[in-house]
Amino acid sequence: MFKNLMITKPISASPEVHAGEDSPVTPAAAGLGSEHGQLKRTLSGWQLLLLGVGGIIGAGIFVMTGQAAANHAGPAIMLSFVLAGLACAFAGLCYAEFAAMLPVSGSAYSYTYATMGEALAWFVGWSLVLEYQFAAAAVAVGWSAYTISMMESMAQLAGIDWQFPAWLASAPVTVVDGKLVSTGALFNLPAVLVIFAIAALCYVGIRNSARANAVIVAIKVVVILALIGFGAAYVNAANWHPFIPANEGGDRFGWEGVLRGASIVFFAYIGFDAVATAAQEAKNPQRDMPVGILGSLVVCTVLYIAVSAVLTGMTPYTELGTAKPVATALEAYPALSLLKYAVEIAAVAGLTSVILVMMMAQPRVFYAMATDGLLGKVFAAVHPRFHTPHKATVIVAICAAALAAVFPLGVLGDLVSMGTLLAFAVVCASVLILRRTRPDLKRHFRVPFAPVVCVLGTLSCLSLVFFMGWYNWALLAGWTAIGFAIYFSYGVRHSRVRQAARGEHV
Ligand code: ALA
Repeated sequence: MFKNLMITKPISASPEVHAGEDSPVTPAAAGLGSEHGQLKRTLSGWQLLLLGVGGIIGAGIFVMTGQAAANHAGPAIMLSFVLAGLACAFAGLCYAEFAAMLPVSGSAYSYTYATMGEALAWFVGWSLVLEYQFAAAAVAVGWSAYTISMMESMAQLAGIDWQFPAWLASAPVTVVDGKLVSTGALFNLPAVLVIFAIAALCYVGIRNSARANAVIVAIKVVVILALIGFGAAYVNAANWHPFIPANEGGDRFGWEGVLRGASIVFFAYIGFDAVATAAQEAKNPQRDMPVGILGSLVVCTVLYIAVSAVLTGMTPYTELGTAKPVATALEAYPALSLLKYAVEIAAVAGLTSVILVMMMAQPRVFYAMATDGLLGKVFAAVHPRFHTPHKATVIVAICAAALAAVFPLGVLGDLVSMGTLLAFAVVCASVLILRRTRPDLKRHFRVPFAPVVCVLGTLSCLSLVFFMGWYNWALLAGWTAIGFAIYFSYGVRHSRVRQAARGEHV
């Protein structure tokens, strides 16, 4: 059972694929029955870029930036965004090389399987659950707060005195100094509802989901540009001094704070890699995967640095530690009150599209793991009419809703970042390994200066994991232990690559 942990999945150069073609993984090739249909190639480069932006801009910028500035980095949160953006740029280049070369839905999991072997691939796939499923839950929690605030603002505008019952809108537990503490709330109802509503959209089809995503992305980008444009006129440069406030102990301010800030706002960049999970549904993955991944990353990096400069310039960083820092910064300027309402609407729309992208990505990773035999066949079922991994979508929705009902954003957010950073670190290293082991594969996009970029990518992602703190490492260790328990009790027995290696019929 413990043999072949390093067994790799053989890969061949990706065939040229075209719009409307079925994906190269056929049910027969995967050894699945007739109920297992195929994913269809329907997404254009432009839709992939929008998918990336839709998955990136969300709770990170609308919620977490304020806490990171107020408690860790001060105005130097701008630097934190630059550092986190650099780590993502290295990883983004590596993802682009892989996604154009291996347009399959498993993303980092599939790349690792092809290069570093099955056990590590499982570890990466299991870490991606932290990324996508937990992110869907985390962002749904942020969505709940902004939506309630928006509805209350509207009621107020209409002269109605209405408030959503707080006991139905937040987590029943939170973590204080590493201990679980009860909050008195029952559960987060709006967060659960939004997850099921979006799951219904994902169930019926990725093309419809991509269209809905494009509309939402347009709304949030326009409002963010307005925030930067109008907010810039109210910037008081004195608020940027001191740029890096003196260290007050631990990771509160100073360079320690800037680095901890980077590990928090890293969350804001997560999502560009979700584009890679749609590779099996891209019309022209060889050309469009790098466009979608790198294009969305560049757009969001520029917007983030500008937004963080404007926010810390408009409002002293000490006042930004609220659940709605963007709205908080605007509240001080009555002339910008309309913009505040627009920001609330854009935040709700923006967070919705992030949940959508995460909810699309997770079932596709499970689909890839199930077609490899590492997860049950239920995860590989594809709807005969909608061509979506419908059963996996339902399972993911139930799990994400349970997490969103019970846990607060901070707890979920750090776990999301940990899982993602580990996956990124492995992908960066995998590019170098595959260049050595399979130089023959046709690479439609090549990471420039690969040895430097890949090593810097791996190191920068691992450094950010380091700044997450012991509490998060312990949670990650527990999560990994659960994952390997599942792998050793199910995956190693059903792995199709192992079965093929033993000469069994697969
Ligand atoms: N990047 C996504 C967000 O900030 C996960 O919500």
